[in-house]
Amino acid sequence: MLDLKPIIHEILKGYSLPPQNVHGVAHWARVLENGLRLAEAIRVNVEVVQLFAVFHDCQRLTVRTDHLHGLRGAKLAAKLRGKLFDLNDDDFDLLFVACSGHMDRRTDEDPTVQTCWDADRLDLGRMGAEINAFWLGEATANKHLEIIGWADGRARNRVIPDLIERDWGIATERWKKGAVASGRRKPR
Ligand SMILES: [Fe+2]
Repeated sequence: MLDLKPIIHEILKGYSLPPQNVHGVAHWARVLENGLRLAEAIRVNVEVVQLFAVFHDCQRLTVRTDHLHGLRGAKLAAKLRGKLFDLNDDDFDLLFVACSGHMDRRTDEDPTVQTCWDADRLDLGRMGAEINAFWLGEATANKHLEIIGWADGRARNRVIPDLIERDWGIATERWKKGAVASGRRKPR
């Protein structure tokens, strides 16, 4: 398992949006936890899944449509490779494909890439969207309904995972207060 803390802090130095936005740090943390849950059940490269969680949306310039943000995230990963993390060429190719293709492509034959995309798509409930099995890999859609339900519940409540403070050293108290004030995170 990689230590993502130095990577996150480097990313946030150049991050264009407020970290608590709908595609921001709490989303990255839920995608990470979704990916790790799926990775317990599906044989994949866990480091790629970890890195995807923090790079895939980190170059968004707006919370609205921004078609090239995935490619920019992949390029930032390329820049930080060898400095803040290491992956061999084959594994880095998977990370690059996962980040750059996560908005336009539905499926990929590689289970690591697919798990990255599934981990992201299981968090669509944060925006009120339904999870659509058509956009998930077969392994997730057919065999891991429990993980889908767990992830969707957290997405809908916009859960702010404890790992953000514990592992990444980022204070979230104000985000939590804001979420309660705006009526989110009510128990279902
Ligand atoms: Fe995302």
